[in-house]
Amino acid sequence: MSDQKKLLIVAHNPSPNTQALVDAILRGAQHEDIDGVEVRYLPPLEAGSEDVLWADAIILGTTENFGYMSGALKDFFDRIYYPCLEKTEALPFALYIRAGLDGTGTKIAVGKITSGLKWKPVQDTIILHGEYCDEFIGQCEELGMLMAASLESGII
Ligand SMILES: Cc1cc2nc3c(=O)[nH]c(=O)nc-3n(C[C@H](O)[C@H](O)[C@H](O)COP(=O)(O)O)c2cc1C
Repeated sequence: MSDQKKLLIVAHNPSPNTQALVDAILRGAQHEDIDGVEVRYLPPLEAGSEDVLWADAIILGTTENFGYMSGALKDFFDRIYYPCLEKTEALPFALYIRAGLDGTGTKIAVGKITSGLKWKPVQDTIILHGEYCDEFIGQCEELGMLMAASLESGII
């Protein structure tokens, strides 16, 4: 279908728990009631500027490592920043962070880059911190579904 909207998910998933988060995002985004959205998932090291230019919206996911985003997500931004600058202004995006304790350093760091790109946040950043729990899965599923449904309905 030519009017399919395109949702890109770029998320770092170094552990079984973080893989489960990505799976939940995908489950939500590919909900059976949403059929007007094409979803593409890539780990950050495999995603490039052509994927971002393809997308109508993007969900970013990362762990917090040493108070910052994962090296993999940083590498993604390093590679896509200039090729996407001025070509992806107002790209709707959402961010989720899996952190052991904190997550704020990562939120600030990603925010500086997405502000530079002039991307448009369409959801509050989700910080999944503390002991891993099943509630995270629901939050991620909801995030994926909300982004895809918002794209399909033209809200974002
Ligand atoms: C090298 C390393 C550095 C980390 N640094 C932080 C940190 O600065 N802040 C934080 O909240 N969690 C930190 N963590 C915890 C990770 O965010 C957490 O282990 C990761 O999100 C995976 O979650 P999981 O244990 O549920 O699989 C770190 C983990 C590793 C391996």
